[in-house]
Amino acid sequence: MAALLHYIVFLSALVQGSESSIETLKQFVLKGENVHLDVQGYAKLNNIEDFKWTFNKSHTLVKYSNESSTVKVYTKYQGRVEFSEANFSLVLKNLQEGDSGLYDAGVSGEENKDVAKYHISVQERVVTPVLTVDSNSTINGNCNVTVTCRGQNTSVTSSCNSSTCSQVGGESRGAETSTIPLLSVYVAGGSIICNHSNQVSWAPNMKEIETICASNSKPERDKENQNYNVGIIIIIFIIIIFVGCVLIAWQKLNKDSM
Ligand SMILES: *[C@@H]1O[C@H](CO)[C@@H](O)[C@H](O)[C@H]1NC(C)=O
Ligand SMILES: *[C@@H]1O[C@H](CO)[C@@H](O)[C@H](O)[C@H]1NC(C)=O
Ligand SMILES: *[C@@H]1O[C@H](CO)[C@@H](O)[C@H](O)[C@H]1NC(C)=O
Ligand SMILES: *[C@@H]1O[C@H](CO)[C@@H](O)[C@H](O)[C@H]1NC(C)=O
Ligand SMILES: *[C@@H]1O[C@H](CO)[C@@H](O)[C@H](O)[C@H]1NC(C)=O
Ligand SMILES: *[C@@H]1O[C@H](CO)[C@@H](O)[C@H](O)[C@H]1NC(C)=O
Ligand SMILES: *[C@@H]1O[C@H](CO)[C@@H](O)[C@H](O)[C@H]1NC(C)=O
Repeated sequence: MAALLHYIVFLSALVQGSESSIETLKQFVLKGENVHLDVQGYAKLNNIEDFKWTFNKSHTLVKYSNESSTVKVYTKYQGRVEFSEANFSLVLKNLQEGDSGLYDAGVSGEENKDVAKYHISVQERVVTPVLTVDSNSTINGNCNVTVTCRGQNTSVTSSCNSSTCSQVGGESRGAETSTIPLLSVYVAGGSIICNHSNQVSWAPNMKEIETICASNSKPERDKENQNYNVGIIIIIFIIIIFVGCVLIAWQKLNKDSM
């Protein structure tokens, strides 16, 4: 019984311990953008002497002294941060890849503790993927196309028909949480679409299925059509000039005969 009681006390201590340690919030930010870091429980803080925002536990960005009501922004971050003395929030501007990491807000005084934790991942905007047709065939009127989509570091090869695509090669797709850009190939609205995306941006590229499969015969006819159209325009032009000449000549003739 006593052992059980001890165990319960031990468990509740564990629960309390995990309550006071705050969770790390994960955030993805586009390179060049700003990030806003709030201290959720700022209203409950009291009797603190110092408040600090630190990066990767090793660098201090900002230190606020409650006794003297002064804010010190450290050299490396001058002009890049905005600190609110009212709620201790921090705005970090123009993020670059090197700014990825852990941001901690901690108070010191009678009690020292962390009051906010953020894990920031800075990502670049993905490039528009390159979508190329490897092969195409028409079997019983069904168009079957093999395409390769290339992103910056990854590529996937997929076999597609007018309703669906299935991956046949290339790197396997990363998980949704992966920081490596994702390539997904699918069919929608009669087009093969390749979507290159990461957590902060995406860029698609697409190709119409019909045009791929019709390309066996169509180009020649299109060219002929074009030649035909140019011919008609030239003929109309000649007729207009001819009619114009006739009219002018006729007017002149009329004037002369007056
Ligand atoms: C700042 O210091 C005053 C006086 O020591 C104290 O009453 C107050 O709670 C402190 N503010 C915070 C946010 O801890
Ligand atoms: C803290 O203050 C800043 C600037 O005054 C504001 O933008 C932000 O929303 C505030 N955050 C909270 C949690 O109140
Ligand atoms: C489509 O073409 C690819 C490559 O030529 C082939 O591997 C695949 O089996 C074909 N799919 C169908 C449904 O015909
Ligand atoms: C992806 O490619 C870029 C340059 O194109 C390179 O700087 C980066 O290290 C590559 N990332 C990975 C995970 O391979
Ligand atoms: C497309 O391919 C899938 C699987 O490869 C197949 O089940 C489906 O019937 C095909 N659809 C057409 C219109 O060819
Ligand atoms: C591309 O992927 C992103 C992220 O998964 C998504 O938000 C977006 O709607 C997709 N765009 C297209 C055209 O599929
Ligand atoms: C489709 O296949 C034909 C012959 O197999 C080829 O001439 C044509 O260029 C291909 N079309 C595309 C868009 O690759």
